[in-house]
Amino acid sequence: GARLVVLASGGGSNLAALLAAHEDEAYGARVVGVVSDRPDAGALDLARDAGVTSVAVSPADFADRAAWDQGITEAVEVFRPDWVVLAGFMRILSPDFLARFPGRVVNTHPALLPAFPGAHGVRDALAYGVKMTGCTVHVVDDGVDTGPIIAQAAVPVLDDDEESALHERIKVAERSLLVETVGRVAREGLRVEGRRAAIG
Ligand code: GAR
Repeated sequence: GARLVVLASGGGSNLAALLAAHEDEAYGARVVGVVSDRPDAGALDLARDAGVTSVAVSPADFADRAAWDQGITEAVEVFRPDWVVLAGFMRILSPDFLARFPGRVVNTHPALLPAFPGAHGVRDALAYGVKMTGCTVHVVDDGVDTGPIIAQAAVPVLDDDEESALHERIKVAERSLLVETVGRVAREGLRVEGRRAAIG
């Protein structure tokens, strides 16, 4: 199966879904490593509990941004990933990192891109007043949430929604979308032509 390295900064519910999926051999991919920028990330505990090697690469441990960029590139490289999955990873990766895994880094974002990119996709969608939002799995390029879109799922906004409640509903859809999309990409491959990405 394909080797996945998951990068996560937070609680790791998307990572948990991937760890559950990879238990089944037929999934065609397995998480071989988890890397976080935060030593206190719940995602690191989830990895340990699942017997998956995990490592924290904290900016606090590096002299500057360039050194951290190199540190995280090397930390991911040692796992020899076929695919790198950003699952709630809240930092921008350097062009050098992306060049090391060309077209092989995918991200999940809690909005229907190209609407509401960035760190506050749920809050921004709510503030704008959209009635429909959702989640997007896309290839990572040098921009912020600008890469070719692989899959999306829609989630309605409710009249009295708050950010946390809406985000929780998005995350339910997001976990299924991410698990299904990563599995299909790992098993069938990904074709990208210009802005258009297609599985198979
Ligand atoms: C997810 O909703 C993910 O899309 C979002 O953080 C959450 C992480 O949840 N990522 C971003 O906003 C990236 N800009 P998790 O830690 O429970 O998987």
